[in-house]
Amino acid sequence: MPRLVAEVRNDKLGERVVKRAIRGRETGKIAPLLQKVLVLLLDGAAQLKQLHWTVKGPHFGPIHTKLDEIVDRLRSGADDVAERLTALGIAPDGRTGTVASATSLKAAPEGFVADSSVVTLTSDMLFALSGELQAGIGGLGDVDPVSQDLLIGITAEVEKQLWMMQAQEG
Ligand SMILES: [Fe+2]
Repeated sequence: MPRLVAEVRNDKLGERVVKRAIRGRETGKIAPLLQKVLVLLLDGAAQLKQLHWTVKGPHFGPIHTKLDEIVDRLRSGADDVAERLTALGIAPDGRTGTVASATSLKAAPEGFVADSSVVTLTSDMLFALSGELQAGIGGLGDVDPVSQDLLIGITAEVEKQLWMMQAQEG
């Protein structure tokens, strides 16, 4: 079981130093699951920002605004996942090259995109994201309930945004 460990030692000047850490977590299992979600959230935010800029049509206003809200939620989720990795002593990798090569999300089209297509593309992406998050939740249950809880919260937000986006499809 995971446990909190505090090690007391003396530094070079003889001062007492306490190092606190989380030990006993199966970081080999946790890291790839959280890293995958981090990549998808970062890519999802970048793709939706692109659509925020390129959406065109009679429903431009609300979609343009809504996309920025979703981007903010995904970025916030990515930050939480990256910092959870760090708290476990694992370095997150959110570099653009890593995200580009590891993502499984469909790329946003080049150029301007009709508002109706943007709604469909965004719904498809949020649906795909939700599926990946559900897989992560399933994988984390036995190894780190705290990370699992984090993904559950992000999934709830993604699925809420999916509902709102789909509602625009009629
Ligand atoms: Fe903007």
